[in-house]
Amino acid sequence: MDQPRRPASPASEAAGDYSIRKEEFRAFQDLIHRESGIFLADHKLALLGGRLHARLRALGMTSYGEYFKAVQKDEAERIEMLDRISTNETHFFREPHQFEFLKTRVLPRWVEDAQAGRRPRSIRVWSAACSTGEEPYSIAMLLLDQLPASEGWSIEILGTDISTRVLQKAKDALWRIEKAEEIPTPYLKAFMLEGTGPEKGKMKAGPEIRSLVSFSRMNLNSRPYPVPGGFDIIFCRNVLIYFNTATKAGVVEELLAHLAPSGLLLLGHAESLHGLTEQARSVGPTIYAPLQSTYFSGQRLPRLR
Ligand SMILES: C[S@@+](CC[C@H](N)C(=O)[O-])C[C@H]1O[C@@H](n2cnc3c(N)ncnc32)[C@H](O)[C@@H]1O
Repeated sequence: MDQPRRPASPASEAAGDYSIRKEEFRAFQDLIHRESGIFLADHKLALLGGRLHARLRALGMTSYGEYFKAVQKDEAERIEMLDRISTNETHFFREPHQFEFLKTRVLPRWVEDAQAGRRPRSIRVWSAACSTGEEPYSIAMLLLDQLPASEGWSIEILGTDISTRVLQKAKDALWRIEKAEEIPTPYLKAFMLEGTGPEKGKMKAGPEIRSLVSFSRMNLNSRPYPVPGGFDIIFCRNVLIYFNTATKAGVVEELLAHLAPSGLLLLGHAESLHGLTEQARSVGPTIYAPLQSTYFSGQRLPRLR
């Protein structure tokens, strides 16, 4: 596959002064799918070329074939490549109806159960494709507000992603100040700090919520997952859309195995478990409970006001 630099042709797509040929695209398509579960359809050829172009230049390489060989040989370069091809769009309090559902219909039950001694005052949540951290920190704000440490609650939130680049941003917990608009004012005032000095124009997560969240790299396409199970809530949002049906089914099976019997699995707005598993049922839009759970049947949930 070593090719000299060549002009774009109908069988290739220009990426600056480089071009990616169809057979090179297929080799990447196959490797990326095996590695991450992400399936790049044929029309993503130009997108892939564009996303890898700067890396080729930085390494002084002149063809995608040469870069493919490097990626095959070197795990660190594969991680770097996956960093570049993953789509990381995210927002604070994305899918607000899910946060509302947790606040009004789930957490009050857990508080009531804890008061009656039916559950511990601890809660573990997993954000299983957390991107740059907006999702796990949104969860942290909601939980800290509703389940205060002063009432004996302990909260643990794990954020994982395949991309080391986004995880570093999540750990830094520093965003441009415009992102403040995504956060309800009371939470913004209580939990976020305005950057000063070199961080002017930025917003930083305050220590109360930073201390609740930890991050590590984890590939949802590599099973079994190296994290302890029994999560009360798993957010796996806006990532299944990149997988094919077989990969989605495998991921969902493994996620459900990591959920507590009274737990909930939350998906993205364009995702559903339909046709993927018989082991969970819907208890709200894009919100699922394990099939054996008696906890979230319609009658037992308090009505929405
Ligand atoms: C569009 S973002 C969604 C972020 C967040 N969950 C949300 O809904 O706002 C998708 C994330 O999935 C991650 N991702 C893609 N494939 C993955 C895999 N195989 N394992 C873990 N994370 C993956 C990407 O790196 C990216 O950060």
